[in-house]
Amino acid sequence: MNPQSNSKISLEIDGAQCEATPDDTILSVCQASGINLPTICFASNLTPANTCRICVVELEGSRALVPACSRKVSEGMTISTNSARVLTSRKMVLELLSSSVDLARADTDMQAWLTDYEADPSRHGPAAATVSQAAKLQDTLYVRDYARCVLCYKCVQACGVEAQHSFAITVANRGFDATIATEFDIPLPDSACVYCGNCIGVCPTGALIFNIEFEMRESGEWDESRQATTRTVCPYCGVGCNLEILAQDETVVRVTSPADHEVSHGHLCIKGRFGTGAAPVSAPEPN
Ligand code: SF4
Ligand code: SF4
Ligand code: FES
Repeated sequence: MNPQSNSKISLEIDGAQCEATPDDTILSVCQASGINLPTICFASNLTPANTCRICVVELEGSRALVPACSRKVSEGMTISTNSARVLTSRKMVLELLSSSVDLARADTDMQAWLTDYEADPSRHGPAAATVSQAAKLQDTLYVRDYARCVLCYKCVQACGVEAQHSFAITVANRGFDATIATEFDIPLPDSACVYCGNCIGVCPTGALIFNIEFEMRESGEWDESRQATTRTVCPYCGVGCNLEILAQDETVVRVTSPADHEVSHGHLCIKGRFGTGAAPVSAPEPN
């Protein structure tokens, strides 16, 4: 632990005085103060990648807006989380993302922000087709639908040094051609993937989902009003990973893990992720 982490820092956020420690970020202080900031590439169990910039705030004395998720606090900071400049910047981020990516399956927060920030993706012309691509159904466990990917890098981090250390996926190409891919874009079963599904667990847009969820959504059977989450302990070994099992009408449709659990930290292996009932409903032809 940082030896200074117990010392106190005073700062001002939206006109109110706050206390923090040197280990705090602007985001963590805002969260503790009840100020909601939007985040996309941030996850509490990953190192901030600073790729989306939706969490920006205005810091007095700083020429550029600063990302709240990664910027550590310092004594005397004066911050605005809702100035006109901040709101315009967030709106622009949302517009640019939704003008080229299908966010219809994004988590509910992201869909609410599109309304809250009055994002109008049509201002940027017709939806960009450059990132449009067919969903990859290459195995019986999960689907990679990169037409819904905002390139937040969370899956790459979870597959790499932050959790799984498999390095099966990374970002290929640049600009509008950029996409998450395996090495040489080989099919996932031929790659280094071990099917832990940690990438699914952190994906905020529905680009990575269980096969059963994909098929239910495509067929119109997906119905959140008939779903319930049960938290339990993985039965496969003595490590004690926690599972959050989402079931619809008692059929398991998704398995995640709470990010704040001291054993699993939001990550699982193939047994916990796919071995507790979210069974493949069919074996698609590789594409
Ligand atoms: S399932 Fe695990 S190993 Fe495979 S790509 Fe996702 S994070 Fe990497
Ligand atoms: S697939 Fe999901 S987690 Fe990976 S970069 Fe795209 S949006 Fe982020
Ligand atoms: S959430 Fe802070 S840069 Fe993406």
